[in-house]
This record gives sequence, C-alpha cells and structure tokens, in this order.
Amino acid sequence: MRFDTVIRHGTVVTASDTFFSDVGIKDGRIAALAADLTDADEVIDATGLFVMPGGIDSHVHLDQPSGDGIVMADDFDSGTRSAAIGGNSTVLAFCMQEKGQSLREALKIYHAKAEGKCHVDVAFHLVITDPTPEVLGQELPALVEDGYTSLKVFMTYEGLRLRDDEILATLDTARRTGALVMVHCENEDAIRYLIGRHEEEGKFAPKFHAATRPVAAEREATHRALSLAEIVDVPIVIVHVSNREAMEEIRRARQRGQKIAGETCPQYLMLTADDLDQSEMEGAKYVCSPPPRDKASQDACWEGLEQGVFDLFSSDHCPFRFNDPEGKLNEKGKRHFRWIPNGIPGVATRLPILFSEGVMKGRINLNQFVAVTSTNHAKLYGLYPRKGTIAIGADADIALWDPDKRITVTNDILQHGADYTPYEGQEVRGWPMHLLLGGKTIVKDGLLTQQKVRGSYLHRNRSSLVPRGERHR
Ligand code: URP
Ligand code: ZN
Ligand code: ZN
Ligand code: ZN
Repeated sequence: MRFDTVIRHGTVVTASDTFFSDVGIKDGRIAALAADLTDADEVIDATGLFVMPGGIDSHVHLDQPSGDGIVMADDFDSGTRSAAIGGNSTVLAFCMQEKGQSLREALKIYHAKAEGKCHVDVAFHLVITDPTPEVLGQELPALVEDGYTSLKVFMTYEGLRLRDDEILATLDTARRTGALVMVHCENEDAIRYLIGRHEEEGKFAPKFHAATRPVAAEREATHRALSLAEIVDVPIVIVHVSNREAMEEIRRARQRGQKIAGETCPQYLMLTADDLDQSEMEGAKYVCSPPPRDKASQDACWEGLEQGVFDLFSSDHCPFRFNDPEGKLNEKGKRHFRWIPNGIPGVATRLPILFSEGVMKGRINLNQFVAVTSTNHAKLYGLYPRKGTIAIGADADIALWDPDKRITVTNDILQHGADYTPYEGQEVRGWPMHLLLGGKTIVKDGLLTQQKVRGSYLHRNRSSLVPRGERHR
C-alpha cells in the first residue's frame, strides 16, 4: 500500500503497550503498524520521540456566558488553538442549558459558536440546569440517541445547582437512556452559610474563596452524589476532585461495587490555597471550584493517579482575563470574592505538566500517562476506538513527544485568550512537538502550521461505563 504519510523510527505508546513501530496513515486513519514503512507521499522522522494518541481533554469550558457581563477569555477558535499547542486533538466542551431553555435551543447556540472555528475535534456535554419533565422525559432520551451521551449536573453555584430530588430524576433518566452523568460535588448550603459568616466578619479578599469551600463540603457532596447514584443504580463521574477525602469516597464506592469514574486536574497537583493569599488581588488568578488545597492534598491526588482511583486527568480549562473589568478584576469581584469568576486556564499546560511532573519524575509510567490523558476519555465518553489509541482503523490523531525538550512555560507560548497562566515560569521537561489531526499536521515544532481549521464535531456512542444489554436488577 502507498500511504499518505508515514511516521518513522518512533516509539509508539498506548495505554497498554510501548513498542518500536512505524505508523502508516491513509485517508486520515491509521492503516499500518509495522517496521520499515517507506512508500509514502510524506515521511515524518520520529527518531527519539514518543508516538502517542493525541490528547483528549474531556473537561473544557469555552465561550460560556456568565451573568453580570463577565466574558470568558476563550472562544472555540482560541481555546482549540491552545488545545492543539498543548498536544490535544479532541476537546469535550460544555453546552450550558439556561433556565427555561430547551436542550435543543442550547445546542443550536453552542454548535453555532463552534461551527467553522475548531482547530481540533470537538463534542459537547450537556449541562442540565432545568430538569423539567419535558427535558428529562422527551428531550434527553432523543439527544442521547443523537450522540450527546454525557451530561453534567452541579451541586453548587446559585442558579445552576440541582436539589437532590432533581439530581435523582436526572440520574434515573440517565440510567434509562444510557447517558453518563458528571457531577460537580460541593455542598452549596454549607458554602452559602460560610460566605454569610465571612461577610459578617468583613472578610472579602480572594483567599476567603478557599476558606468558604472547605474539604468537608466537597467530601460530603461527593458521598451524597455517590449515594444518589447507588440508589438509582447508575454509573457517574466525579469531576475535578481536589483532596484525599473525596478521593477516598470514590475508592470506597468502587469497593462497594459501584461503577464510577474519577477525575482530577493539574491545579490540584500544582497549586494550593496559599496561591489565593496574595496582595493586590493577585490571588483572584487562582480562584476556581473546588479550590486548590494544600501539599497533603496534592500528594493524595498524585496517589489517586498512580493507583488508578482517577481514570481521567482533565484541565477544567475555564479561562478569564485577569487585568480586565469583564474578567477576574470586575468591580464587584474587587469588593467581594464571591463575584470573582471561577476557573483558571489550562488546556495547553495539562499534558506538559503531567508528562514532566508525572512521567519524567517517575510517578506514573508512559502507559498510565496515555490512559489518563487520552484513552480513558475516549472510552468513558463514547469515542473509543476511533479516538484515544494508536491502532489500525483509528483516526490518525497523533502527538509526537520529545522527552528531552525543556520549556519554560510563559503565557505567550500558550496562545489562549487569558492574559496569564497560573504556571508562569514553570520548567517542564517533555513537549508535544508535532500533532496530527486526521492524518494532517496541525502543529509542527510546537507551532500551529496553518490558520485553516480542520476540527470537526464528533457524534458519540455510549460510555464504556454504561452496561450493555438487558439490565437485571
Ligand atoms: O472553577 C471552576 N471549576 N469553574 C469551571 C466550572 C466548573 O465547575 O467546572
Ligand atoms: Zn484560528
Ligand atoms: Zn465543576
Ligand atoms: Zn469545569
């Protein structure tokens, strides 16, 4: 066979194997894995490089409006450009239902936002904020059939959070339709109470964001989400876990026999609540929920990755500009932490940070790296085996990593819309130098090769966590 492209002399890494092989690409897909593939229009020399499936970041917020005139720093153009720079070939973004809005209306809006703008492949999770009988009874089942096979619910954030009975109804619909539910676990009532107490004491600085969202509020909500899922017998994903106690809830639920997935993020390995405790509002840069905790929590999140408690390592990229009255430093936010928009940028730094701090420092191996950054995302969100692995027939979404490349992270190389990165000055070892999307080079020598956008929307199957066939219960 004559190939369109061959990648020669590299070390192929999947979630299960590491082996020397050339990779032959034809019509956008991987067509051969063998030695000495030479007959091709284009040859890419991967000597000394790791040939890995492109990163899949299944937790990315792009172009989501928040009230009060706050503007997210990335749309689908800049956000997916930054994703590509950071070695990702697929992102899963959120389609947020407004109260009173149908899911179809919300999807129409988000598809329009993404259309023609995506530098990598994209799919949407639905965020359910208004679980009416119409939404759960009619819309959601039809949308799951149409390939929107995952959704997120919030236990916190005024206006977004669902009550326990609403969560149960949503989980029950998920069980019937085969959708996978992601849950943001923090106890809203406890947080509201603590915010009130801080207001009485005149405590308004960014650091009090962390103080009013304690570990116990996350642990309790995690336990409650897992219990609600157990009650209706449905798999769930606990997203953005920040500490040991929430992580241990996941471990215990699994030991009880529940089918669940856990996710953690770079901020919980790299940042602490002390980062919020800085002068001149600098701490606002690090405001996200759950908040970064302490050194022991970082160690626990590493342990969860090493031991497989966490299946997913995602960015929770949710970028706002810092020096901006429509971003972190809006007028109300300067007076009270509760108005600082929650979230930090990280779609470009997720993979280099885990590669450098995890693989190069011997905490996880290469196969674990591929599993938690790509393969498990594809499996859990219904994209496998088209995405998430190097195998015959899979899309040729391939990242070539140079393990010896040393980079100092600075905001200008990340190409996102935010005016800062929480990781400014961080030295990393290893970088995704080359990225192919559907067999076409989109990043070369660490830079985007063209302005032409090649990303497409992905229709998804059901999650690998969702049982197949007749349920017996
Ligand atoms: O602070 C965060 N994580 N913002 C993004 C929204 C969410 O809860 O994932
Ligand atoms: Zn562009
Ligand atoms: Zn969340
Ligand atoms: Zn998020």
